[in-house]
Amino acid sequence: MPTVYLNGHYLPAEQACVSVMDRGFLFGDGVYEVIPAYGGRLFRLAHHLQRLQNSLDGIRLGNPLSDHAWQEILDEVLKRNRDRAGSDNDQSVYLQVTRGSAAKRDHLFPEEPVPAVFVFSNPIAKPDPQLATRGISAITLDDIRWQYCNIKAITLLPNVLLRQQAADHGAAEALLVRNGKVIEGSASNVFVVREGVIMTPPRGEQMLPGITRDLVLELAERHALPYDETDIEADSLHQADEIWVTSSTREIVPVTKLNDLAIGDGRPGPVWKSMIELYRDYKEAVRNGIRS
Ligand code: PDD
Repeated sequence: MPTVYLNGHYLPAEQACVSVMDRGFLFGDGVYEVIPAYGGRLFRLAHHLQRLQNSLDGIRLGNPLSDHAWQEILDEVLKRNRDRAGSDNDQSVYLQVTRGSAAKRDHLFPEEPVPAVFVFSNPIAKPDPQLATRGISAITLDDIRWQYCNIKAITLLPNVLLRQQAADHGAAEALLVRNGKVIEGSASNVFVVREGVIMTPPRGEQMLPGITRDLVLELAERHALPYDETDIEADSLHQADEIWVTSSTREIVPVTKLNDLAIGDGRPGPVWKSMIELYRDYKEAVRNGIRS
């Protein structure tokens, strides 16, 4: 039975309960993070906690914990679930902060909100080796989300519907298009490689600033691989040599088929192979305590 953290207590998941008046439950009024930990070591924790702070600022909710207190809780949840993870102890932690509960349902913020904090962890499955030979397929869909997609809000109904629509089409991800431009995936950021240049849409309110995305750009910079943060026209996607999607739980995944047509030669490309090696080296450095 997994152990979770809820409002100051560590307890078995099945005993963890929140009030039906919690604003996360009633309004989706909360934010979250998903942070991988390799060998028990949290990956890019400072970046995740900074993004959490930005999301809390975005919904005008005070951070209930200091960075130090967050780290202690996350480490403790990882430790208590160690026996559920495999021998390499790779887990991802989910944390969620809602605006808590109030006596009555009211759209207005409670005068003195008491945020609800929930944390759990899951073992991370090893990356599927078939990814390196086959990649995944994706489809493009209209971005039906709201205007503040830079906030990592728990209100994910559009993302859920889009992801399901992709799955119903036999695709593993939906690439979202707004005003003719590809923005990101339903639960990932997007990269396109054309003539050796790694391209990704620029940060802004329309998309989540992915921690994996930023690390890919950092690795490109450090290893002198050409890259560009630039708008990507959805119509140009089929001229891409490579397309990738990135996220904390899926790392960097090559998209080899888009809307039922092959991308490049229909196999994961050489730039992806270089980048995934750099990414895995970085990950091993975190596991060994050389990087954070
Ligand atoms: N989602 N864009 C969206 C809409 C996402 O939901 C995610 C990740 C990303 C990638 O961000 P990062 O590299 O920081 O994981 C981009 C998480 C994993 C989730 O909702 O489970």
